[in-house]
Amino acid sequence: MDHVAAVILSAGKGTRMKSALAKVLHPLAGRPMAAWPVDAARDAGATPIVLVVGHQAETVAACFRDNTDVLTAVQAEQLGTGHAVACCREALAGFSGTVLILCGDTPLLRGETLSGLIRFHRKQNAAVTVLTAVLENPNGYGRVVRDEAGRLLAIVEQKDATPAEQAIREINSGIYCMEAEFLFGNIDGIGNANAQNEFYLTDLVAIAVNKGLTCLAMPAGDSDEIMGINDRVQLAEAARILRRRINAELMLSGVTIVDPEQTYIDHGVTIAPDTVIHPNCHIGGSTVIGPSCTIEAGVTIAGCRIASGCHIKSGSVLEGAELHDGVSVGPMAHLRPGTVLHDHVKIGNFVETKKAVMGVGSKASHLTYLGDAEIGRDVNIGCGTITCNYDGVNKHRTIIGDDVFIGSDVQLVAPVIVGRNSLVAAGTTVTLDVPPDSLAIARVPQVNKEGWRLRKK
Ligand code: UD1
Ligand code: CA
Repeated sequence: MDHVAAVILSAGKGTRMKSALAKVLHPLAGRPMAAWPVDAARDAGATPIVLVVGHQAETVAACFRDNTDVLTAVQAEQLGTGHAVACCREALAGFSGTVLILCGDTPLLRGETLSGLIRFHRKQNAAVTVLTAVLENPNGYGRVVRDEAGRLLAIVEQKDATPAEQAIREINSGIYCMEAEFLFGNIDGIGNANAQNEFYLTDLVAIAVNKGLTCLAMPAGDSDEIMGINDRVQLAEAARILRRRINAELMLSGVTIVDPEQTYIDHGVTIAPDTVIHPNCHIGGSTVIGPSCTIEAGVTIAGCRIASGCHIKSGSVLEGAELHDGVSVGPMAHLRPGTVLHDHVKIGNFVETKKAVMGVGSKASHLTYLGDAEIGRDVNIGCGTITCNYDGVNKHRTIIGDDVFIGSDVQLVAPVIVGRNSLVAAGTTVTLDVPPDSLAIARVPQVNKEGWRLRKK
């Protein structure tokens, strides 16, 4: 669509969130709340998108710094929604066309709903079109006042409404289409003689009606979409609806989600068909998961790339790791950033890895720490192995060649190299490099004191 700009009101404090964080920055499915309406506006073809910021202006603006189509307009004092839009005059100087106006706290709004609103507005050459909803409980919202013929007359805020107006169940969603020329030609005509002494954007409806301009109200198909978040109860409700949408889309694309009500997948995660996700998993940070993987219950994955046929067992935490085909991890394993596991690597229970690369077919099956390590193919890391990578000041690397066997309870004091095809005996503390094809053993010789008996008190 041509010539659509958007204004997103996000200057308010969000008092009812009772938070040190600006309301529009509270995360929903892994991104700040306001990123959702920004996406919806973009999907409807709006450019530029002007974010009106006020409370924590710099922090809010910083979140959108990388979006070249998002501009910010500062509203230093929050004098009302009409004043907020007036603050966009400079950012939209020279723009002519349709301005979409929405709020930063309506994360459920879809781009297609906005596209429908724009089409409806343009088809009838309206100056103003308001997206409305009919609610069981309209409490707190501005009411949509129509004449007997159903024509829109005005929007009245609850605090200014007569009892008869308060009985109206059609409410203003706070989402509008307005022609830029009408909008900026009349916005300075709004006064603040009302119950809240605020400049109400909604007064533009009565202004347009009085001028004989076309002014429409379009009921939203799905009243969920216009839900504004004011407190943390609504935040959780919105999170649940977004979760349902994300999970439904994945399921329809071929992913099995055993219990979609209890599976937490963030926006921007990609999962291929025939992967199975068990309950209570948290997957975020633009993770990519390939086909035919199994993610067992209670797994947390952030910023990972997982190829096909991998099996992540219960209770594991994976951060910034890269897994090739057929890798098995856990239960209760912790893969930290810089972990690269090549095909068919096996990481067992209570194993932690960090900046560790493991070659094809290598295994660390139990109770191990591998940090700053480069491990070849078909290496066996015994139970209780520790790479001692940190001397209190610097980190050092451990390099282990192909086909090495590390016995149980081995400490590798880095920097150290174990050459290919060698064996490090159980209980050895490796402080010297081990050449290839060798046996390294470092143990205090065992002493048996015969005839000794444990004396009991
Ligand atoms: C507004 C509408 C009301 C509608 C409701 C829908 C007005 C006068 N009323 O009421 O008809 O039913 O939204 O949710 O517009 N904001 C600013 N600067 C300001 C004031 C507000 O940026 O000076 C932003 C807020 O951050 C928020 C949005 O505008 O994102 C709406 O403001 P809010 O105070 O919540 O308006 P409501 O009283 O809910
Ligand atoms: Ca509100």
